[in-house]
Amino acid sequence: MNRLSTSWGEVSLARFPADPRDPLRAWDAADEYLLRHLGETEPRPSGTVAVVGDRWGALATSLAAFHPVQISDSFLGREATRANLLRNGLDAGAVRLLSARDTPPERIDVLLVRVPKSLALLEDQLHRLAPALHEGTVVVGTGMVSEIHTSTLRLFERIIGPTRTSLAVRKARLILATPDPAIGAGPSPWPLRYALPDGIGVMSGRTVTNHAGIFCADRLDIGTRFFLKHLPGTRGPVRVVDLGCGNGVVGTAAALANPAAAVSFVDESFSAVASAEATHRENSGGEAEFLVADGVSRLPGGSADLVLCNPPFHSHRATTDSTARRMFGGAHRVLAPGGELWVVGNRHLGYHLRLRRLFGDCEVVASDPKFVVLKAVRK
Ligand SMILES: C[S@@+](CC[C@H](N)C(=O)[O-])C[C@H]1O[C@@H](n2cnc3c(N)ncnc32)[C@H](O)[C@@H]1O
Repeated sequence: MNRLSTSWGEVSLARFPADPRDPLRAWDAADEYLLRHLGETEPRPSGTVAVVGDRWGALATSLAAFHPVQISDSFLGREATRANLLRNGLDAGAVRLLSARDTPPERIDVLLVRVPKSLALLEDQLHRLAPALHEGTVVVGTGMVSEIHTSTLRLFERIIGPTRTSLAVRKARLILATPDPAIGAGPSPWPLRYALPDGIGVMSGRTVTNHAGIFCADRLDIGTRFFLKHLPGTRGPVRVVDLGCGNGVVGTAAALANPAAAVSFVDESFSAVASAEATHRENSGGEAEFLVADGVSRLPGGSADLVLCNPPFHSHRATTDSTARRMFGGAHRVLAPGGELWVVGNRHLGYHLRLRRLFGDCEVVASDPKFVVLKAVRK
């Protein structure tokens, strides 16, 4: 069991979903540095403590005695926090769970920021939280040295106030900012809306909405572009799932190509699902639902005719196909007999082997030097 010691005791922590074969811990040196700093610094945290970007709930669980508000864009991160509180016998209500899209608290006395990998998400969150800060608010950011750049510090300077960094300890660093209410940084520049290029089928020239931090928020991904050119045609009232929907461009293409289709947009990012909803609303009047979830976990077995998926191959900077594997297994479960899973991926990822094992067969629908579109049929 992974146990983290802090000034307030010891907690057992796991990522979500908990996988005994997963050797990765639910916290790192940056989380430990922040917790040690808080434990050694007077005055102790008091008032409204907000924790932003806590990856697996290590910060919120360790600080549960202060009843923090956790602000996270990740459904998995939120579920990890819930499970970690439970694992340590802590009250589920000890931490107030807000998504990155929820209205933030009106006043924050201690703001703890685990620097996210997306600078855009940090920019959006600091803009949204700045009005809740006052001159006495303690603001401490944390991250691994490799995650904190001059541009990161500039954001704190520009939106919060004078900013300095600590010494690096075990390759982690703290960011210490003093709020200057006179700055008045104004509203967040996000979401970003842009028009898609031509030559990508029904979505050509259409506008997509992108909240901060989502996959490829400022341009069309080249894998997605390849997928859009090779999507299957459907007819009649088919049930389509856009699995890992991001800004919803793939599911909206399916909806536009067949107005009788009902599309479920699913993502573990709250901002992605909000983006997909806006993209769909602007471009299609078809039936749709929008689900923040771990893959297809909220969809009943046998409820889909077509699953479209451009799976992630990174999780918190590590290259991994574990999410893709779970998505393929989930797709197999939700597809009705004869239903199809269509996947786009980099050729070198070898998704065809995994799909062949799971579905019994897998066909290459299209390929170029970089990408393949694969089709697997549920027997
Ligand atoms: C490569 S992006 C594809 C986005 C979009 N479909 C596109 O093609 O532009 C993968 C998406 O999967 C989402 N994702 C990652 N893990 C997930 C999970 N466990 N359940 C649901 N979605 C997940 C990510 O948030 C991301 O939006």
